[in-house]
Amino acid sequence: MPLTRVYEKAPAKINLLLDVLYKRDDGYHELETVMTMVDLADRLELEDLAEDRIELVCHSGVIPLDERNLAFQAARLLKERYQVSRGVRIVLDKHVPVAAGLAGGSSDAAAVLRGLNRLWRLGLSGQELEELGAELGSDVPFCVRGGTVIARGRGERLESVPSPPPCWVVLAKPPISVSTADVYGRLNLQEPRRHPSLARMIDALNRRSFADICRELGNVLEDVTLPLYPEIRQIKACMTKMGADGVLMSGSGPTVFGLVERETKAMRLYNGLRGFCREVYAVRLLADPAPRSS
Ligand code: C5P
Repeated sequence: MPLTRVYEKAPAKINLLLDVLYKRDDGYHELETVMTMVDLADRLELEDLAEDRIELVCHSGVIPLDERNLAFQAARLLKERYQVSRGVRIVLDKHVPVAAGLAGGSSDAAAVLRGLNRLWRLGLSGQELEELGAELGSDVPFCVRGGTVIARGRGERLESVPSPPPCWVVLAKPPISVSTADVYGRLNLQEPRRHPSLARMIDALNRRSFADICRELGNVLEDVTLPLYPEIRQIKACMTKMGADGVLMSGSGPTVFGLVERETKAMRLYNGLRGFCREVYAVRLLADPAPRSS
């Protein structure tokens, strides 16, 4: 029986560590980052269409539904590259905040690549899907793979590493929009910066030491966003005061996450933050490598 419909989950990511090594000739920044997935996800339904068209449906009202959307671009890339004459209707149920530093759009695109590979029986390997993902955006290859990785290059060269031990992640997004390109553009690479230690973070992950993972959290893009947006610093301070074990801004922001070992403390943090921040989530880390569904 040919498949006519598949479902995919598109989880949000957080960066446990993000370091910028230098600016490259192609305008991108050479990174060393450690990313992992959290159990806050968009859901996608992909329905096979006999007609040759891509239809994207989403009721959230905050994202474009045409070729500006990465999920749309992912479907178009597969259609063109593999001369697929069928179409697809993508119904996107959005839960991950947009332009938040959580790779929501990249994860949607990755879910479309995984889902259409099954729906259209393209037979592409994980590696091939990751390579296609790199054409769409720096975070897409990781979103294809899932789990926990060290990402190098502009974010597309991946090495899987052990996931942190199970814990809670409290996410808070201040009501500001941050452009990734703008944050990288403002980064002053001449200024003396405290670099996070990738070696120590990897060691902490290998030892599955929650305390050491929390100690080694670091993101050089905070040097740009904290002075620009006092709300981010305020949320970080608030999470620390309320007892989060580790606190960091994710990606280029503005979302801040707190890692918390105990559920009662996670709930206390969640309730405390809800007082002055509308978009707050308390979720678990997603330790499974493959964020797929049936
Ligand atoms: O790859 P993606 O389209 O997600 O990147 C968005 C923007 O972020 C890029 O246009 C670039 O300005 C910046 N960026 C960068 N270095 C990276 C990743 C992104 O400068 N490694």
